[in-house]
Amino acid sequence: MARPALSLRNVSKTWMPEGRSPVIALRDFDLDVAPGEFVVFLGPSGCGKSTLLYMIAGLEETTGGVIEQNGRVVTEPSAERGLIFQEASLFPWLTIADNVAFGLSIQGVLPQKRKEMAADILRSVGLGDMLDKKPDELSGGMRQRAACARALAMRPSVLMMDEPFAALDVQTRAKMQDFLLQIWRDSKASIILVTHSIDEAVSLADRVVVFTSRPGRVKTIVPIDLPRPRPTRDPRYHEYRDMFAELLADEVDRAFAEQETR
Ligand SMILES: Nc1ncnc2c1ncn2[C@@H]1O[C@H](COP(=O)(O)OP(=O)(O)OP(=O)(O)O)[C@@H](O)[C@H]1O
Ligand SMILES: [Mg+2]
Repeated sequence: MARPALSLRNVSKTWMPEGRSPVIALRDFDLDVAPGEFVVFLGPSGCGKSTLLYMIAGLEETTGGVIEQNGRVVTEPSAERGLIFQEASLFPWLTIADNVAFGLSIQGVLPQKRKEMAADILRSVGLGDMLDKKPDELSGGMRQRAACARALAMRPSVLMMDEPFAALDVQTRAKMQDFLLQIWRDSKASIILVTHSIDEAVSLADRVVVFTSRPGRVKTIVPIDLPRPRPTRDPRYHEYRDMFAELLADEVDRAFAEQETR
């Protein structure tokens, strides 16, 4: 691989909640993400996927190991690394246009220019008519597109998304996946997307990183060797699905078994 966009070496995180015993969320996690690569994180609930995204974003510190972006150690948040949460990635008190312009103001872009850039990028995600609306006036799918627009306005080289489409209905979700592939191609950013949906993983990823149950580690990494758009009727598509279902079932069983012996 050429120099990775993102490199994780022995990354560990132990949470120390006050008055409770420490939680080892991740242990010795290793991963390289190539420039422009689409990586999907798949793993049982509580295995540390969100924790890992927070650390890559620079919002939380690692308790072991190193995260580098383009060879520079990550120590704090940066516009180079965007994170979209499952919900509430937008400020409810700002209009959609002002939400998108907000990050640009921190980057020092002048007001008129901010307005133009925000309108442009919102048009590109199909929200040209919604500039003056507040987030609660939009549908769930529109809000997630606005959150994408806000993150993309910063031109991140790594865009992380934590179960971005989980709350959407099946049809909207399929549309959003198409939309995401399109902006991924246009932006040339690396994407890391967390999902619980095996279909979403097989539909989107260049590579799927399967986590073990907590403490999360890389169980296996599976490249998806299928053309895009993904041929959902191809037997190979179903082989991938079955393989992920088995890998996940193993880990979920293990997590439950451990809970019972505690
Ligand atoms: N701020 C925190 N303080 C203490 N413990 C935390 C904190 N955030 C997460 N944890 C713990 O770390 C572990 C991993 O949590 P995390 O949210 O990263 O899992 P996840 O893989 O994203 O799960 P899900 O698929 O359910 O979203 C869990 O045991 C969780 O309780
Ligand atoms: Mg999570």
